[in-house]
Amino acid sequence: MLTYKDIIKEDDPRLRQKSEDVIIPLTEEDISLLEAMNEYLVVGYDEEKAEASGIRPGVGLSAVQLGVLKKIIVILAYNEKGQKFHYGFVNPKIISEAVETVYLPNGEGCLSVDREVPGLVHRSRRVKVRTYLYDFKTKALSQKVISLEDFLALVFQHEYDHLNGVLFIDRIDKINPFFIPEYSTPIVFGQEE
Ligand code: NI
Repeated sequence: MLTYKDIIKEDDPRLRQKSEDVIIPLTEEDISLLEAMNEYLVVGYDEEKAEASGIRPGVGLSAVQLGVLKKIIVILAYNEKGQKFHYGFVNPKIISEAVETVYLPNGEGCLSVDREVPGLVHRSRRVKVRTYLYDFKTKALSQKVISLEDFLALVFQHEYDHLNGVLFIDRIDKINPFFIPEYSTPIVFGQEE
């Protein structure tokens, strides 16, 4: 099983490289990678197991964080309304994005950045993504165009950045790390539908 030690950290040059497209259909190796990344995130939600297994919890993971330069992302997250989102992305591409942005009031974190970095990251509040989606329940891979909003859009863009060698710390304003543009709104959890 993957543990926090298996995740490469910010001084590793591979995190600065671009990931490559994955050949479809997926190989056994790619599926194993997706499943291992998924297991890491799933165990992260179980506090006891996470501690026992040496797992720092997260809501998303990119293959490059395991040193594999392939366009593979897994997200297991609950949005601001408490709705679960759980998929693997293969070869995702953002095809459009809103100008308005959102941000996490306490800033972002990353499993590859093992320190607190003060500052805000503003990301598009809505993205449309063309991708292969891997369903962990059915093990099916299907080509989709999906729209993601608010927290899920933010998480996706954080992971998508990894595929391009970008870390969230790069996106914090160097001069004014807590600057909030007019068109940016904070993500607030616990909203009712
Ligand atoms: Ni990250």
